[in-house]
Amino acid sequence: MNADSASPHDLGGQIAVVTGAAQGLGLGIAAQLARDGAAVVIADLQEEKAWAAATGLQEQGLAVQAGHLDVADSDQVKVFFDQVISQRGRLDILVNNAGVGQVVTPLVELGDREWERVLRVTLTGAFYCCRAAGRIMERQESGAIVNIASINGQNPAALVVAYNVAKAGVISLTRTLALEMAAYGVRVNAVCPGPVYTEFNRTVMAQRSQSLGLNEEQMIERIRSAIPLGRWGEPIDIARAVAFLCSPAASWITGEIMRVSGGLEGVSAAPPKRPKG
Ligand SMILES: NC(=O)c1ccc[n+]([C@@H]2O[C@H](COP(=O)([O-])OP(=O)(O)OC[C@H]3O[C@@H](n4cnc5c(N)ncnc54)[C@H](O)[C@@H]3O)[C@@H](O)[C@H]2O)c1
Repeated sequence: MNADSASPHDLGGQIAVVTGAAQGLGLGIAAQLARDGAAVVIADLQEEKAWAAATGLQEQGLAVQAGHLDVADSDQVKVFFDQVISQRGRLDILVNNAGVGQVVTPLVELGDREWERVLRVTLTGAFYCCRAAGRIMERQESGAIVNIASINGQNPAALVVAYNVAKAGVISLTRTLALEMAAYGVRVNAVCPGPVYTEFNRTVMAQRSQSLGLNEEQMIERIRSAIPLGRWGEPIDIARAVAFLCSPAASWITGEIMRVSGGLEGVSAAPPKRPKG
């Protein structure tokens, strides 16, 4: 394909890392980037599952590898990105997708350890990876980073304060880094997904439905009916938006926070008083 006819969505020849991509949204993102032509590395805590996912995608003819990474471990993140450079020579795309949900509980009941666990993976992990990739991309004077935030980062939902704060932090991290990287031609954007029925969401929904006295199906329907486009999201919905932001089609977009949620802005319901204990 010559330069004139190349699709602006083509990622051919690009090296991409997607964190937390052994399953769920990350896996959908890794697959989409690879279908668009990138060579993708899945970086996940669950190494075996990451390799199984990579092998499945290789069988479809896609260039996907996997590696172990705990994004919350500063040293591991440094070593991981050093290895990407020593093995591949460059890094064109980073998608910071790894994140953990929070045990659904009121702020006044939330323990120190749960607060720290959620912030450490979901916000600090994104910072470590942005820092490592940012150094590489600044040197290269090219690259694109997409951070996966959440609609909760813009409009907090009750009973998950640590998660809301972590995702609001990811949005600020994105906008700060976009400013700092602009002079180097490196673009940094965020996607705020709405509800997609992954393992993460299933766990949170199960806890929320219990607190509201609903069964799982009623809870799924309640969320569905709140979404203006009338359906839950699929990983592909999020993956296509991420791939767009990584591609030359988005070459004049940076510091953008893109909601991909079927129109849902957030879940702002206030829970009733709790029984006095
Ligand atoms: N599913 C949704 O509805 C939804 C909505 C908004 C935002 N998000 C965000 O999208 C991202 C992916 O969510 P998902 O629903 O696919 O979740 P998931 O739980 O299905 O997958 C998360 C992946 O991250 C990996 N991971 C967890 N901690 C890690 C660590 N320390 N280092 C490396 N990998 C780690 C897990 O092993 C897993 O493979 C998260 O950041 C989540 O907050 C999800």
